[in-house]
Amino acid sequence: MNEEQRKAGSLDVIAQRNKKEKDYSQYFETVYQPPSLKEAKKRGKEDVQYNRDFQIDERFKEMGKGRTFFIKTFGCQMNAHDTEVMAGIFEALGYTLAEDILKADVILLNTCAIRENAENKVFSEIGNLKHLKRDRPDCLIGVCGCMSQEESVVNKILKSYQNVDMIFGTHNIHKLPEILEEAYMSKAMVIDVWSKEGDVIENLPKVRDDYFKAWVNIMYGCDKFCTYCIVPFTRGKERSRRPQDIIDEVRDLARQGYQEITLLGQNVNSYGKDLKDIEYDLGDLFEDISKIDIPRVRFTTSHPWDFTDHMIDVIAKGGNIVPHIHLPVQSGNDAVLKIMGRKYTRESYLDLVNRIKTAIPDVALTTDIIVGYPNETEEQFQETLSLYDEVEFEHAYTYLYSQRDGTPAARMKDNVEKEVKKDRLQRLNQKVGYYSERALKGYEGQVVTVLCEGSSKKDNEVLAGYTDKNKLVNFRGPKEVIGKLVDVKIDEAKQYSLNGTFLHVHEPSAVKA
Ligand code: SAH
Ligand code: SF4
Ligand code: F3S
Repeated sequence: MNEEQRKAGSLDVIAQRNKKEKDYSQYFETVYQPPSLKEAKKRGKEDVQYNRDFQIDERFKEMGKGRTFFIKTFGCQMNAHDTEVMAGIFEALGYTLAEDILKADVILLNTCAIRENAENKVFSEIGNLKHLKRDRPDCLIGVCGCMSQEESVVNKILKSYQNVDMIFGTHNIHKLPEILEEAYMSKAMVIDVWSKEGDVIENLPKVRDDYFKAWVNIMYGCDKFCTYCIVPFTRGKERSRRPQDIIDEVRDLARQGYQEITLLGQNVNSYGKDLKDIEYDLGDLFEDISKIDIPRVRFTTSHPWDFTDHMIDVIAKGGNIVPHIHLPVQSGNDAVLKIMGRKYTRESYLDLVNRIKTAIPDVALTTDIIVGYPNETEEQFQETLSLYDEVEFEHAYTYLYSQRDGTPAARMKDNVEKEVKKDRLQRLNQKVGYYSERALKGYEGQVVTVLCEGSSKKDNEVLAGYTDKNKLVNFRGPKEVIGKLVDVKIDEAKQYSLNGTFLHVHEPSAVKA
């Protein structure tokens, strides 16, 4: 490296020059690969390769000796699980977990791009870490996760956040050792973002965050391309794991005593469609997993389009697949659904809900709704409200539409005032609150089975856990039941949770709510 290049690699020089120029590549010692949403949109025909040979190279094994790491996670369960994998890699490299973000030698922000406010939170966090980099220049700060897959974000970090040492995306977290090594060696920002998805990598190390509940990826990516959504760009094409790999992982978790698993995918109902050599779908996977001795199996997220009768049948049998279905509807109006690219109608959604309710009478249905889609009219919004009344969801996550660069919806003109959207959201939330409270009230006097997770956040003497339908229950009981399924009699419904009295440890054949 010559003097000129060395200077160009210094953060200050990059900062000055980036203000003037758009091509950043000359300031990097390694090849600078900007992420490209256009590239990310392409869906290749090549088969997914399954890599089972992941190993930490000998030369990296001492890298973390005497060093600590901290990962701050934003976004969905997918990110939470990626964080567990990255923590596994850090520990395999000899790092230990720092007790506090400000004391860590390596800080990673595992980011979410789903809405603007999610991104703003991350930028303010990076800003907060600026003084840390001044005080401890040797500490490494990395940005990974979905935001790293966006060109605009990478360019913004280059321009305004020179305290960041590395940026890498969602497809190459298994390359963390190499990325860290490069960041230690190089004075310039290390950027390694792959716009195209890689292989499915099995056998990655993991440090699970919980002793009783575990995430299990069943597939990666999303091919639905709902017109508002950034995920197909940040997570790549749909890739299913092989059934045997999933089953082996679940069996192993059962052996370790895990009580609950959540099968993860952006659209789990598409599971298996890309497995060309076998006919195997989510219903088949449910069946195989229901034979494993693990008390609770959750799954998220289900796109209403691909929900099959086979899946409904397996859940209806009352085995370990929980009767809680999160079924994002987004809108109750056909025209809005159409421009959202959701590929179902109000009628077909309601028909699916009917089939589910008929087969599984005690099912708990929850949903996601977007309010204020471009040009949404009051009448269209009213249809969302009326659909809510028809289905009587037990809960919903509601969002104001947020424009995402690169998505088709971002090109739509929008004639709805922000205040009007906010007012609609508030009205919808009132409805959500009404049905959530009503659902909780219905539990008063009943006995429910709770997976006791530990002490409640508010009171150390009170235990807390969730029912199979994801209702939070607080109760007094012996601390030995932490990590076990217990039966609790519900005394009182609060606004967001239930209070109850501990009865006994749950016997599988005993009453189940
Ligand atoms: N794969 C899941 C959704 C994952 S994103 C599914 O299709 O069901 C979680 C939720 O975020 C979505 O259901 C949607 O309600 C919301 N969301 C996604 N993109 C959004 C955007 N641009 N603005 C507002 N909300 C959005
Ligand atoms: Fe986004 Fe639609 Fe895929 Fe869900 S199904 S992740 S909303 S594109
Ligand atoms: Fe966010 Fe990426 Fe999940 S955008 S919601 S972290 S898949």
